[in-house]
Amino acid sequence: MLADRLKTLAPSSTLAVQAKAKELRARGIDVISFGAGEPDFDTPRRIKDAAVEAMQRGQTKYTEVGGVPELRAAVCAKLKRDNGLDYEPADILVSVGAKHTLFNLVMALINPGDEVLVPSPYWVSYPEQVRLLGGVPVAVPTQEATGFDLDPGRLAAAVTPRTKLIVLNSPNNPTGAVFTPGALAAVARLAVERDLWVVSDECYEALTFEGRHASIASLGPEVKARTIVVNTCSKAYAMTGWRIGYAAGPRALIRAMTDVQSQVTSNPSSIAQWAAVEALTGPQDEVAKMAGEFDRRRRLIIDGLNALPGVRCVMPRGAFYAFPNVSGLFGRTWRKADGAVSLESSLDATAFLLEEARVAVVPGRDFGSDAHVRLSYATSDALISEGLARMAAALATLR
Ligand SMILES: Cc1ncc(COP(=O)(O)O)c(C=O)c1O
Repeated sequence: MLADRLKTLAPSSTLAVQAKAKELRARGIDVISFGAGEPDFDTPRRIKDAAVEAMQRGQTKYTEVGGVPELRAAVCAKLKRDNGLDYEPADILVSVGAKHTLFNLVMALINPGDEVLVPSPYWVSYPEQVRLLGGVPVAVPTQEATGFDLDPGRLAAAVTPRTKLIVLNSPNNPTGAVFTPGALAAVARLAVERDLWVVSDECYEALTFEGRHASIASLGPEVKARTIVVNTCSKAYAMTGWRIGYAAGPRALIRAMTDVQSQVTSNPSSIAQWAAVEALTGPQDEVAKMAGEFDRRRRLIIDGLNALPGVRCVMPRGAFYAFPNVSGLFGRTWRKADGAVSLESSLDATAFLLEEARVAVVPGRDFGSDAHVRLSYATSDALISEGLARMAAALATLR
């Protein structure tokens, strides 16, 4: 019945973990979830007020496909203010979240058989979107010892005549890496020399705790001319449900992505667009406040994880994820009610933590590393502490 392209599609495992935790809770089982990739804060009041006001003004109709001019101008002002980048509204496309932005990009750029370099571990949707459209994602490992910094040498070695695009994501989901200026500069040179496109997913920019966020597009006009900068209102402004993401890049490519969007979704919600104008142009102090809170929780959870036997975790420098290595648990025996099981993979570790600790985490396998699991610390101190205590108690039962 289904199209061939569906044969390889994996549904989002992060959303699957959230659904599983919700289902257990509905059955009365008290699960602490570290699965969600969204801030636990509410959207700031000024942004909600702007949405209400837009509705009252009658901003409830179709808009320009790529976003109202005021929002595209607000995106240009943001990119100038925060990233030192010059764009015009015609270089901007606003979409239904950055996930949609990225899909428009792959649709507009990738032919069947084209190779896309994806530094690994990676966010689960990059390889899936590429595969869905017949492209070939090529995972290029980064090293835990460098805090998962980009590895320009390995990227260079992975380039073939079919390579078309490199996917960068800093701060990184799931590792929390903030790529170093030297590595970014080397990848910029590689892209220019080998005539590659670059997509720079900067969705976690506002949550940079160590190092400084730099967009690769700001490293010079040659690399900017082949880079698509992608960002979102989801994480910085706690607006995941509003679905506003955007891209800035070379005009011809933005136009092609807009044409794709014109045949698939048309404009993103008019009301959410006006909320986004306020988010991007209004006072930015809540952003720093939320980031400060995440930074504090980061230390709490990483210290706690490193105190667990068989678990070690590098200190993430950005985003709101911990990506502990759990391979120290492999080979240990989990005595389940229906028989003993040896833990051998991130899936086993995830199942063990869910059943024995009632703690939901996401298996690293889907992010490209079976030695790790991912925890989101966008949750309260009390739940982080309780979750860590439960994990410690469960790990003490392993043989
Ligand atoms: C790395 C990365 N890029 C993009 C997105 C998409 O965000 P949204 O579609 O909500 O803008 C996410 C969300 O989890 C993400 O982690």
